[in-house]
This record gives sequence, C-alpha cells and structure tokens, in this order.
Amino acid sequence: MTAPLLRQLRVGSVELKNNLALAPMAGITNAAFRVLCAEGGAGLVVTEMVSAESLKYGNKRSFQMLELLPGEHPAAVQLFSADPACMALAAVEAERAGADIIDINAGCPVRKIMRSGAGSALMKKPQLLADIVSRVVKSVKVPVTVKFRVGLEPGENLAPLLVRVCQEAGASAVTLHGRPASQFHSGPVDYDAMAAAAAAAKVPVFGNGGVENADQARAVLATGCAGVGVGRAAVFNPAVFSEIASGLTGGGAEPASPAFRIGLFLRFLELNAGIYGEEHGLARARKLVGYWLKGLPNASSARAAFMGLKTLKEARELLIQYTR
Ligand SMILES: Cc1cc2nc3c(=O)[nH]c(=O)nc-3n(C[C@H](O)[C@H](O)[C@H](O)COP(=O)(O)O)c2cc1C
Repeated sequence: MTAPLLRQLRVGSVELKNNLALAPMAGITNAAFRVLCAEGGAGLVVTEMVSAESLKYGNKRSFQMLELLPGEHPAAVQLFSADPACMALAAVEAERAGADIIDINAGCPVRKIMRSGAGSALMKKPQLLADIVSRVVKSVKVPVTVKFRVGLEPGENLAPLLVRVCQEAGASAVTLHGRPASQFHSGPVDYDAMAAAAAAAKVPVFGNGGVENADQARAVLATGCAGVGVGRAAVFNPAVFSEIASGLTGGGAEPASPAFRIGLFLRFLELNAGIYGEEHGLARARKLVGYWLKGLPNASSARAAFMGLKTLKEARELLIQYTR
C-alpha cells in the first residue's frame, strides 16, 4: 500500500501533524512569521539561521533569534558554524530556549558563510559534517536534522552520500534543497537527485525547491521524499500550507484572497510589535511589505506610505482599504 501524500511524520521523538515544513529563510522566518505559517497549516517551522559563534560570544540579537512563541510549535532552530564544539554549545542554548528540533545548516551558499567553512562548504567535508552532527546529537535531547543541497555545482549529486553521513551520525531527518549551491535559489530542481537521496535514506527526507502548489508538492513526494519544504511561496501567503494540504488530499485549493492575505499581514505586524515593539516591528516589516502588496491596486503608493509608519494604528488605517 502506498503512503498517503499528506501524512503525519515522525522526526525522532517529535510527531509532526503533517509532512509540510516551512523552509528556513534569513530575514523572513522570524517568530511572528512562523506563527502565521503554523496557523497556515505547516507541520513544522524553522527559524532563520542563527550563528553558533555569535551565541558563543553572547550576541543579544542572536539570542533573541532563539526565542519562540507559543503558537509555533513544533519549531526547529537552525544553527550554523564549522566548529563542532561551538555547534554543540549553541544547540544546548537553542534547546534551553524551547527548540523542538535542532537543524544544522549545511546548504548556505553565501560566500562569507562558506569561507568560514560553514553552510554548503560542509558538503565537501563529510567527516567534519559527521563530527558536527554527532557532537550536536550528543549534547541535546531533542532530535537533530540537517539541511543541505544536491551539490555545489550543477550536475553534482552529493545527496545520497550526505544522507548516509548524517543518518549514521545520528540525524533524525534531512532536508534536501534540490539545487546546487552555485545556483542559490533559482534554476531547475533536480528530482533525480532527490529520488537518489530518498532511496539512500532510513530517516525522512524533506524535498525542497520551487514548491508553490499541490502539483509541485506531489512531484517532490513522487521522488520518494517523505515531506516537502516550502520557502518563498509562503513569504506573502503563509496559508499556502493549507492550500497544498487540501490539494494533496483531493480538495480544491482556493487561493487566498487579497483581503485574507492582508489580514494575515496585519496579524504579522501585531505579532512583530509584540516581539520588537511597535516602531521597530514596523521598521523590520518594511522590506517585506512589497511582497504582501504585490499585484494589489495602488501597491506602490501604499508601499511608499508604509515606510513612514510608526504605529500599528497607522498601519491598520493604511491597509484597511485592502481588507474590505
Ligand atoms: C531570502 C532567503 C533566505 C534564506 N535563508 C536560509 C537560511 O537561513 N537557511 C537555510 O538553510 N536556507 C535558507 N534559504 C533557502 C531556503 O530555505 C530554501 O531552501 C530555498 O528558498 C528553496 O526553496 P523555495 O524554492 O521553496 O523558496 C533562504 C532562501 C531565501 C530566498
């Protein structure tokens, strides 16, 4: 019997209500956004990547990135560094802050991160990656997962090897972004590499890359991956998880209306204000407002007006035109 496409999934000791996960995104997947995604149907949410080195030196902002809100669990905290001891210490801090899962970043293509030996540079050092995974696994009680890519360059498929390395070192699941590091977040997704990784895996593999709807999620699950990671499609529509879930179970997936989406954005601003304070919360939302308003009438003037807002009341007054 084949497993249903949408299903509960166990990552180590953590039971996920479904196999649709929010992919970690720096500058985007903060606590406020993760709550919206959890409410929007994600079975697992993941923080922005947090520097283990910064935690080691007591960086306040990095510690703030570990803070989770009650409505977002189960939540994974993603950490990065090339130093196993430092990662182990950071994992202890993340667990103390309430992380349900520790995720290790082995896929970031940003040059500064790679030069430090972290992110996707770890894909070329499987022994070091294994060391990091096993040190982190030994330092915490919560499950540990790893996110990596198919390779560094097009045509390279390191995924089956990395799946084995990670699961032997004690990882409870992996996420595979089906594009090479050199392509960052664009270009085709390598479904064959996903299938090879899934075949090599004893632990669940979340296939990630380019999933915006149920058909694309189905294509990932058809490779044998147990779950799907969704990144950018959630950025201005955290309800995309429910839409995909509905599509996978044969229901018609009604796309979220603009009024509904702007209602979510207002809720995002309220949650952000609770975390950072009203003015700072609104300032942090400035780089995202363009996504949320995309395609709406008078979007560019509303976006420009948003840049000067200082209070939630002003934000509500500006955005109310879109919620009716
Ligand atoms: C703005 C942005 C920030 C990202 N930050 C991270 C990160 O912190 N950690 C990580 O593992 N991947 C990060 N990614 C990669 C995503 O998790 C995901 O693998 C990628 O966007 C492909 O999925 P998608 O096509 O569904 O967006 C980021 C991607 C974007 C677009």
